[in-house]
Formats: sequence, C-alpha cells, structure tokens
Amino acid sequence: MNEHVNPRHAVFPTSRLEDAEGEGLNPTANRTMGEIIANRFSRRDFLRGSLAATAIAATVSPMALISAEHARAASPKRFDFREVEAGIDTHHHVAEGYDADVLLRWGDALFPDSPAFDPVNQTPEAQVRQFGYNNDYVGFVPLSGSSEHGLLVVNHEYTNEHLMFPGIVKVVEKADKKDPTKTVTELEIAPADRRRVDIEMAAHGGTVVEIRKEGGKWRVVREGALNRRITSSTEMQLTGPAAGHDRLRTKADATGTKVFGTINNCAGGVTPWGTYIMAEENIHGYFMGTLPEGHPEATNYKRLGLPEGTYAWGQFHERFDISKEPNEPNRFGWVVEVDVMDPNSVPKKRTALGRFKHEGAESIVAKDGRVVFYLGDDERFDYVYKFVTTGRYDADNRAANMDLLDEGTLHVARFAEDGTVEWLPLTHGQGQLTAENGFHSQADVLIETRRAADLLGATPMDRPEDIQPNETNGRVYVMLTNNTRRKDDQIDAANPRAANAFGHIIEIHEDEGDFAATKGRWEVLLKCGDPSVAEVGATFSTETTKNGWFGMPDNCAVDADGRLWVSTDGNSPKATGRTDGLWAVETEGEARGTSKLFFRVPVGAEMCGPLLLPDMQTAFVAVQHPGDGGEDWDGFGRLSYYEDLSTRWPDFRDDMPTRPSVVAITKQGGGRIG
Ligand code: FEO
Ligand code: CA
Ligand code: CA
Ligand code: CA
Repeated sequence: MNEHVNPRHAVFPTSRLEDAEGEGLNPTANRTMGEIIANRFSRRDFLRGSLAATAIAATVSPMALISAEHARAASPKRFDFREVEAGIDTHHHVAEGYDADVLLRWGDALFPDSPAFDPVNQTPEAQVRQFGYNNDYVGFVPLSGSSEHGLLVVNHEYTNEHLMFPGIVKVVEKADKKDPTKTVTELEIAPADRRRVDIEMAAHGGTVVEIRKEGGKWRVVREGALNRRITSSTEMQLTGPAAGHDRLRTKADATGTKVFGTINNCAGGVTPWGTYIMAEENIHGYFMGTLPEGHPEATNYKRLGLPEGTYAWGQFHERFDISKEPNEPNRFGWVVEVDVMDPNSVPKKRTALGRFKHEGAESIVAKDGRVVFYLGDDERFDYVYKFVTTGRYDADNRAANMDLLDEGTLHVARFAEDGTVEWLPLTHGQGQLTAENGFHSQADVLIETRRAADLLGATPMDRPEDIQPNETNGRVYVMLTNNTRRKDDQIDAANPRAANAFGHIIEIHEDEGDFAATKGRWEVLLKCGDPSVAEVGATFSTETTKNGWFGMPDNCAVDADGRLWVSTDGNSPKATGRTDGLWAVETEGEARGTSKLFFRVPVGAEMCGPLLLPDMQTAFVAVQHPGDGGEDWDGFGRLSYYEDLSTRWPDFRDDMPTRPSVVAITKQGGGRIG
C-alpha cells in the first residue's frame, strides 16, 4: 500500500490520514547522529557523468570494490532480457519473448461452488468464496515437490471503495484547504452500510489456492482440497509471550488468546517448513472512536497512529471502536502464521515477533539451524527488525517446526556511521526495558515494540518495506521506500538523503555470512530516482537506461540464482513519468547497480509480489489497485472511480470494473526467466 490507505486521492477523509502520517510517529531523538563525520557515499557526486568503468565506485563501498575487482572477470551481467520501455498506459507490459497471463482476478472463483463475479450485486457470502481484493504478497508452497504444482498464497491487503462499488461516488468541487481562493475536485463517497463493510471485510485477508502448470500455462484448481479464504473475520489464536496478557483481553475474549480476523496484510513470507506468513501492517485505519479518559493504552496507540478511522467498520462491528473495546487494537499488528496443509487450521498470531506495522516476514535458516525472520516497520522514521528462533529447524520433521515462532529473540537494527550494524535484543529486563519504563514483562515489550526499540537507540529509517535474505551470498536487501519528511539535520549514513522522495536499498552483510549474527556490515546498494537529474543523487550504474531506473522500492525477491528483483510502489506520471513495475537489479561485480525494467503495471497500479519459482520458469507478480489514479496522466486527466476508470484492466469490458490480479510470467516456448 502506498503511504497508508490511498492518500493520493481525496476519496477517504484524507486530512485524518495525513495527520496520522504527520512527520512520522517516532517521537525520539534517535533520528540524527548530529554531524555527519564522513558521508561514505558522497564520492559519487564527483563521479557523476563519468564512464562506466568508474560507475561502480559510485554505488559500492571500498570493501565491496575489492571483491568486485576479483569478481569482475567472472561476473558478467546476470540478467539477459530486452527491457520494457518505461511509460504509462492502460495495459501491463512484459519484456519481449515473455507471456504475462492473468491467473487470478479479484472476484474469481476459488471453489467449485463459488458464485460468478457480479460486481453490481456483490455480497459478503460471495466474496468469501472468491479471490479477495488488492493482492500484495505472493508465495508458493510446492505440492509433490514440484515447481509446476503447488499452493499459491496471496495477501489481500486493503480495499478501495471508490474502485470496487458502483453508485457510491460523487465528484465534487470543494474549496482548497491550502488556498481558499481555489477549488479542488474530490471524490465523495456515500456513507458505508453494513453490507458494504462486510464485503470489505471479506475482501481482506488472504487466499490459499491450488494451482497447476499444464502445457506451459498455469491454471487454478478450484477443486483443490486445501483451497481457503482467510478474512477479517476468520478465527485466529494469539500465541507466544504476549498471548493471554491482560492487555489483549476484551469483552468478547476473556482469555486474551482468541481473535477474529487479520487486517492490512501487506507483504509476508513462506517459512522453510511451508507455512504462510501474513504480516499485519497499517492497522490504525480500521479503528475508530476515543479511548476512555486516562486509559493506559493512550501512549501505545499514539505511537502507532491509532485510531485513524479510515474505514467505517467500527460503526457496525463494536470491536473496531476503541471506546467500546479499548484493547482490541493490541490484538492486531502481529505476524500471522497459517498452516496451509490443513484448511481448517486456526491461524496463529505469533506475538514473539513483535507488534508494529509489519511489512513482511521473509525467513532463512541460519548456519546453526535457527531460523531468522527479517521484519520491516513501514512508517517514516521507524525501524528494521529481525527475529531469531530459539529452536532449530528440523527439515525431516515438519511438526517439530510448527511452533518455532513462539520462542526466540526479536532484535532491532542500529546502523552506525562506520558501516557496521548492530542487532539489539528487545528482551525484557535488559537495558531500559524494565518496569521503570512501563515494561513489566516480555509481553509489554512486544505489545509496545516501537517504544521499546526507541529506548534501545535503534536507527530511524526511511520507511522499511520488504527485507530479503539471500542464501547464495549471505547478504540481506532492505527496501527503504521513501521519506520526504527527513530533514537535512536528520540525515545519517544509512538514510543519506533529506527529503528522500525516491527511496534507497541497503545491503547488509551479516558477520561471517551468519544470518543469526548480532553484528554485521552494511552499505547502500542503490539510491533510487532519476540518475540524469543531479539533485536527485541517484546511484544507478551508468549502464542503466532511461527505462531501467526506478523510485520507491517496496517488495523484492531473490531468485534461485541469488539475483535481486525489485518491485515498486509510487511511481506515477507526476513522480517519475512511469508506472510501477518489476525491475531486475544487478548486485555483483562490474554490473552492480545496473537495473532493467522487466514488467510494468497499468496506470494507477502498484507492483506487488514478486515471486520467482525455484525452477526459474515462472515469475508471479501482483498488480494492486489498478486504475487508482490517472489524473496526472495526459491519457486520462481526471480522478478515477468505478463509473469512470482510468483503466479497465484486465478485462477491458464496459460492464467490469478494474480488478487487482495476480499475473504469471513465463518465457515463450519455456525456459528460464530473466
Ligand atoms: Fe503495504 Fe508498506 O506497503
Ligand atoms: Ca509501499
Ligand atoms: Ca509494501
Ligand atoms: Ca519478498
């Protein structure tokens, strides 16, 4: 999701959205290191415009340069495809020689008894049997050990009412708040009713669906016995150190362990033992109301921007109104684990991994068998985390791994000016995480993870999104999407640009390639944006074409060869003169910092997924909120909504709205992707 719930258009009460975003919600002074003693990357400014031979120096540290020298001969470019031209139109585009086939659209049937999608007669009952809205994370759990047959798991992050529902939008002219002599055009949405809210709740959550490749093409197996929809009403269990705590108890659940639903599942993961991870991100928008006077959760909720009241759910479901259920928000903001091999399993909210605006949870087995999860907290000036299990992964005994996520150590990252990173444990009783500071147990530390991390002196980052470990080289890629609120006196080596509109990517080298290490080194892999504009300070290699650069990295994937793929959220006609897409980024040797556009989305969409299957023959990508925008594109030039859409992708039928969809990309005639 781009900067919380759709702030780009006035379709929601955006003043409240912007208030919640504010300067970011981190109140600490952790944000600056004062003077920048040595900006490790300022050298690149001297190198601008120089030849490709020196371009590498612009993007890597001296440490990497040495290894790059050795690797130069042995490490040619690893991506070999003719890139797509960057631009904007109503369609998707994939590199020449590839097919991009829509596999699953919002409303598609997932079961033999699923009703056909009927956008003008939507019901919650139909939606819960159909593919949900705004697909984000895409994962794959192989069945029968194959890359051609498995379970596709997909998060449905949020809903866009103005694109989903007919007859609810009115285009209105209003006085401009900033300049009352001017008017602005806005979309006004009719007040919600119970039915609309229940459809939205059913359109959230996730999908588990069997898919099979036949004759080189993927198809959905509706009869799949493991097919499942998870929604904002599905029963879940809270587990781990915070489960059952007083702060998690409500009128409806005196045990503090039973919660209904998951919301705003952004990125996620598939664990080494084949469970599906759904990360709960922007939970604040779903709650409304006011806490009772003097309620002890006030500080906790403020740190998360709660409640924002974007959605009207609390009008019809008491638990989303904090004046009625003050503790309910403490039951969201977790990482959810789903056993996809049992369609009746109760998903578990694993409190040991902390509570914040979880972007995703990609994992890897460390050298000693412990499992490491990398976690971003997507807010301006918030933090990068990792969780290390106490127990070890047992490849031969799936059942033995099923509760690994209930015990372990959550760490938060401190990035130092000298290029080192330290992972600080968020452990009750250590440092300032004591009763004097309101932390009476590990449960308190986890419920208020952000405040605990503030006290440890973690480094406030430029909106941490997906974080991906790379098994082939022991490195970790951290997507930092943007932070236009960072001021000159708040820059540091790890967040080196003020008013960072285009984001950057950090590469972490864990000590001795051990993902469970508590120390490592880091460097900036890429500063994003248009490299032809000096003020932007982008560091793509000079080999990168005008199509190859991007802004706002968000999700990413590492393929079986250890190559990095980056998808974006926020490119637009106005911001970058291009839509979002999937870019292939070279990370090794001379080509390091070279990026190429592989796939681009239709106007108004954001690019989610991505996922490269182990056999490298398929890439899945998720096109999220197509048609959400277009007023800044000459081809449309006005606000987009159900009756007047900037694109009707993917069906292009007058009687069909635009539909978020998962796309399967394969090479024509077969073969490896990229
Ligand atoms: Fe849902 Fe951080 O994007
Ligand atoms: Ca985003
Ligand atoms: Ca995201
Ligand atoms: Ca990922």
